Amino acid sequence: MSAQTTYRTHLCGAVDLALADNEVVLCGWADTRRDHGGVIFIDLRDHAGIVQVVIEPDNATAFAAADRVRYEYCLRITGKVRPRPASQVNERLASGRIEVVATEVEILNAAAPLPFMLDETPGEEARLRYRYLDIRRASMQKTMRLRTRLVRAVREYLDARGFQDIETPILTKATPEGARDYLVPSRVNPGEFYALPQSPQLFKQILMMAGMDRYYQIARCFRDEDLRADRQPEFTQLDIEMAFVREEDVQGVVEAMIRHVFREVAGVELADPFPRMSYAEAMRRFGSDKPDLRIPLELVDVAEHLKTSGFKVFAGPANDPGGRVAALKVPNGASLTRKQIDDYGPHVARYGAKGLAWIRIDDLAKGREGMTSPIVKFLDDAALDGILKAVDAATGDLIFFGAGPWKTVSDFMGALRLQVGRDLGMVAEGWRPLWVVDFPMFEFDHGENRWVSLHHPFTAPSIEDAAQLAAMPGEALSRGYDCVLNGNEIGGGSIRIHRPDLQSAVFRLLGIEEEEANLKFGFLLEALRYGCPPHGGIAFGIDRIAALMCGVESIRDVIAFPKTASAQCPLTGAPSVVPERQLQELSVKVAKKEPAAG
Ligand code: AMO
Ligand code: AMP
Repeated sequence: MSAQTTYRTHLCGAVDLALADNEVVLCGWADTRRDHGGVIFIDLRDHAGIVQVVIEPDNATAFAAADRVRYEYCLRITGKVRPRPASQVNERLASGRIEVVATEVEILNAAAPLPFMLDETPGEEARLRYRYLDIRRASMQKTMRLRTRLVRAVREYLDARGFQDIETPILTKATPEGARDYLVPSRVNPGEFYALPQSPQLFKQILMMAGMDRYYQIARCFRDEDLRADRQPEFTQLDIEMAFVREEDVQGVVEAMIRHVFREVAGVELADPFPRMSYAEAMRRFGSDKPDLRIPLELVDVAEHLKTSGFKVFAGPANDPGGRVAALKVPNGASLTRKQIDDYGPHVARYGAKGLAWIRIDDLAKGREGMTSPIVKFLDDAALDGILKAVDAATGDLIFFGAGPWKTVSDFMGALRLQVGRDLGMVAEGWRPLWVVDFPMFEFDHGENRWVSLHHPFTAPSIEDAAQLAAMPGEALSRGYDCVLNGNEIGGGSIRIHRPDLQSAVFRLLGIEEEEANLKFGFLLEALRYGCPPHGGIAFGIDRIAALMCGVESIRDVIAFPKTASAQCPLTGAPSVVPERQLQELSVKVAKKEPAAG
């Protein structure tokens, strides 16, 4: 595509030797200005690159304008391309073999002194407040443009395969995806509220009932939840739904799409097919339902060796059906200092650990004498022997132990595995995608004393008979699947319930009574009664995929205008108070905030 407009002839980064002796008109920003006693050099920059502009004093008008140019002034330069003398060639720049001798220098806009230099990375607050400057930086130009290519590759792939790109409402009714809703008051319906969609879930299912067969949308989703590096209050999904499919059909299409996108955009060849792993195996071996397979460390269950141990910390959970005792062997971990080992304590405590036991094998041949550990003294020979054999211990190993409730231990030992792997440089290069499948349909929430679903409540259970499901909810697996890449959940989906009786049964199991179900999802239950086809789908987090491809830590670096960790936009100042009159129109009253205690 040509960069030419009536305003400019070429992009700065595209001026090369082939244009020697031609006149060009270039636009961009003054990256640097150097005054070499009588000759002024301006490095003019646009998104395509940098070109050196020379302003000679015999062109008095241009020279006077160039003399006023400062950092990040916006300029339009007319000039003639000439080869640089051999001594001044810059091999690192595409335009390094030429320079442009200016005939005209037009200052389109001056720039006040900048709050930061564009070649440094300023603090988050400054970056977001002056986002237009931040995005001028080369690294942001790169991520923003990569994201565009990513979305384009997705569209090309799906458009060619009969997927219909259909928009769904933003002002809508609550969709439960596990977060709080953002609400919008309705002026014409006083006292009533729209919810912003947490996802287009119900609409895409209804499109399948409507015979659209294959749907996709690059859809904005809104979730009021605690924000982290990989979570924003509004984010973008690649949302997909297909009729008349089973799990492998959805997975097959979308993993081929992900492979296509990585090949096109990042030049990366991903595994074909993606490996599949059950939720149970992922939790057992990696303590996570989104295992990072690049780290060659695994958890080993050692409860069977500790059932009769006198060490209550281990024996308790070892004998409890809801408990877990897991070991993590770190080969050559003996190189960690005592302080480094102790520092993992507070880290795992954040995931609920009550303690973190460990054994360092200084010399396996010496038996107990050759070990350093706060717990070996509590373990009898049989237990110690059993553990060492189970993990296949060797001299130089460090073995961590976690004991407690199954989920807590899995979580904190999984977190420990990641941290130790990173600290010891054990994260292998490359890309490790996988499907995590066979999630339990329900998990019992002991705190709330009720069943909760692991995916959303429209996910089909493996047990299709409503009565049978009600009899043994804890046994049912879900027909959901997550797509995981390098330890990140990049997508999640499922085969859906397509019969009203089963959907009602699932609502009941989740403690959603008929009245509430009708109030919230009556339209869905009704639609399910008019010839609903079996269907399923998935949604990918576009921001997460883009962040992974760009190699950045936070999805904020691939979103043009993200929110801070406290859900604010420093650029616009949103959210903000609104005039009383506007609130009255909306029939909304703001409660006075209680002054914070203490
Ligand atoms: P789920 O809730 O798993 O599924 O979301 C799908 C994917 O969206 C991304 N994601 C997020 N990205 C950034 N910030 C957030 N706050 C955020 N929350 C989720 C993740 C996640 O894998 N309707 C279902 C999909 C389906 O069943 O088809 C859904 O929304 O990458
Ligand atoms: P205590 O009996 O609490 O002094 O603990 C003895 C050792 O066991 C210490 O090294 C603790 O860090 C460790 N420990 C305590 N609770 C746990 C637990 N739930 N999981 C793993 N190690 C633990």
